[in-house]
Amino acid sequence: MHAPGAPMIAPSILSADFANLAAEARAVAGPGVDRADWLHVDVMDAHFVPNLTLGLPVVESLLKATDIPIDCHLMIENPGRWAPPYAEAGAYNVTFHAEATDDPTAVARDIRAAGSKAGLSIKPGTPLDPYLEILRDFDTLLIMSVEPGFGGQKFMPEVLSKARAIRTVIDSEDLRLLVEIDGGINADTIEEAAEAGIDCFVAGSAVYGADDPGAAVAALRDQAAAARATAG
Ligand code: DX5
Ligand code: ZN
Repeated sequence: MHAPGAPMIAPSILSADFANLAAEARAVAGPGVDRADWLHVDVMDAHFVPNLTLGLPVVESLLKATDIPIDCHLMIENPGRWAPPYAEAGAYNVTFHAEATDDPTAVARDIRAAGSKAGLSIKPGTPLDPYLEILRDFDTLLIMSVEPGFGGQKFMPEVLSKARAIRTVIDSEDLRLLVEIDGGINADTIEEAAEAGIDCFVAGSAVYGADDPGAAVAALRDQAAAARATAG
């Protein structure tokens, strides 16, 4: 049971210096550094989650400041109204929460129509089963391994059963879906997540809390690749 392709690392700028976002993006996107795959941008509205971060104008500025694909993680209410503009702005992937809408398929359709990949995120306590039928409408599935809202929390290994389950579905039904995990990913936890079949690893504090964020990206990717190879 393992994912195709090299493991992807998506540093989360939630743990970066918000007054220096262009430089923080460069620290993981180069030139001259071990380049991350995506830059993960956590949008929080203080309603869906009890924290407030940044919104569309900051994402638009980041898109001008860096060429690394932007992975927007929208922890917001009413994604039907607010998600498509992130796609129109040029985000590579726009993920919203299953718990925030009654019609995730419609939101995914609008995101894709605006030119981005569409992602569905589920909180640790949200089961996968009710969404299995609609995953063909999505490009990514983001499994939260902490309660969304804050960086630096402890990884919840129990969510990996959902990663194993979706990997089996992807393999047996030939689903094209990238499986991403977010929350508490670091040198101590990335191996078990890789063994469970995760494709893309979000890491906030483990990358931006390191002295050399680019080196942290490379180390995490190597660790995930080795764990995956061992898991066979
Ligand atoms: C939490 C955010 C995460 C956060 C992860 O709600 O969605 O992306 O930045 O931070 P770490 O990697 O420190 O757990
Ligand atoms: Zn996130």
